[in-house]
Amino acid sequence: MTKLKRRYACSSCGSVSHRWQGQCADCGEWNTLSEDVPETVFSAKHHLTRGGQSITFEPLDAPGAPLQRRSTGLAEFDRALGGGLVPGSAILMGGDPGIGKSTLLLQAAALVARSGGEVIYISGEEAAGQVRLRAERLGLAGAPVRFAAATSVRDILTTLGSMTPPALLVIDSIQTMHSDQIEGAPGTVSQVRGCAFELIRYAKENGAALVLVGHVTKDGSIAGPRVLEHMVDVVMSFEGERSHQYRILRSLKNRFGPVDEIGVFAMASEGLEEVSNPSMLFLSGRDEPVAGSAVFPAMEGTRPVLVEIQALIVRLASGATPRRAVVGWDSGRLAMLLAVLEARCGLNFSSAEVYLNVAGGYRLVDPAADLAVAAALVSALADKPLAAGAVWFGEVSLAGEIRAVAHAAIRQREAAKLGFTDACGPLDGNGADSSGKDKAIRYRPLAQLPNLVDRILAEA
Ligand code: TYD
Ligand code: MG
Repeated sequence: MTKLKRRYACSSCGSVSHRWQGQCADCGEWNTLSEDVPETVFSAKHHLTRGGQSITFEPLDAPGAPLQRRSTGLAEFDRALGGGLVPGSAILMGGDPGIGKSTLLLQAAALVARSGGEVIYISGEEAAGQVRLRAERLGLAGAPVRFAAATSVRDILTTLGSMTPPALLVIDSIQTMHSDQIEGAPGTVSQVRGCAFELIRYAKENGAALVLVGHVTKDGSIAGPRVLEHMVDVVMSFEGERSHQYRILRSLKNRFGPVDEIGVFAMASEGLEEVSNPSMLFLSGRDEPVAGSAVFPAMEGTRPVLVEIQALIVRLASGATPRRAVVGWDSGRLAMLLAVLEARCGLNFSSAEVYLNVAGGYRLVDPAADLAVAAALVSALADKPLAAGAVWFGEVSLAGEIRAVAHAAIRQREAAKLGFTDACGPLDGNGADSSGKDKAIRYRPLAQLPNLVDRILAEA
């Protein structure tokens, strides 16, 4: 028998080391290593080549039951899930504290229960009284949700074992659960992994859709241990700025559907309201054009969303190192775009502070945002507002070319619908329908970044 060696796992990235260290050698996080219990100890004497049961193979086209999804009662939630809850699947829901995860799940739980599904909601974070108060506020107190405040996975699974399996089981949150089989405090890697494993097994065996709420670490990755992301079928993140009303539900991994659809909600005093037409949300609605602001028709899955990008450039007199601050976009991408503008267009940002902000707390992931960001930067630098009624889209290459992007036609159609009159994009991006069905939008192609600079400087 091999001697059991102590080992330590990082609660941030899940990597294992055999020595305790203050800093994880893999991800560089501090104070994340804690003792971990290995599940198996390999020994040369125990080959796995005999002694097991034989498994049966099945054809892939076996006439099984079709995937029966169940609606969460919230169309935006269903959309982000790729069409609703799949029985027997495990969903990990991450998001910053206070963003509205518990609210969203309580609403979904109540709606599923009202539509006749058995729902169990276990909270390890809030007492029954607190949840009851919230349910009352949401007008959902009458829904037949079975609620319990519990943290012991043994208690939970023992209770569930003597009941008909629920359609939906919510565990809020996985970091508060603990198993008496595993050493360590709740929230440690081995506890989180062990508890999730048992709960997921229950869900799979009993056809229950399981939602695990997970906390988010400082760097924004879900639920400390990355291991959880591999164990579940769907990873979702609930995003937004707490100071803004809008919340976006994004799926980052989905074994049963696409990952590019988002659900959009607005946090109101009666809970989360669905926003089924989000295309106007992230525009500031100003009448007067200001320098440094550009409108970008973004795509979220199959839906266009118009987003305002704001840039501010402050010239520094002294030789101090200028700041670059970005909210809602990738800072590496901004650095690249600034470098291309300097190298290909002769603009000088090196002695200026650059601030970039995406309005409404929205986080841009669409690569077609480059041209709109460049337009906002050039407009801010020249202190010249962009032409009113224009939208900008296209990817910028290191050579300064403006490259074609997907869904050019949908982007233009949506902009036209909202009253925009000009679309500036790549050379071959004009896919707008000219049959007269849509309101006309003038397409103004741009080949290179210098053309963009010329156009902005030439216009009023
Ligand atoms: P919560 O669902 O508790 O967040 P999480 O579970 O992600 O930590 O949401 C808490 C926030 O939502 C809180 O700051 C108050 C706000 N809120 C509303 O604005 N309206 C409501 O109806 C509810 C229930 C919460
Ligand atoms: Mg909560």
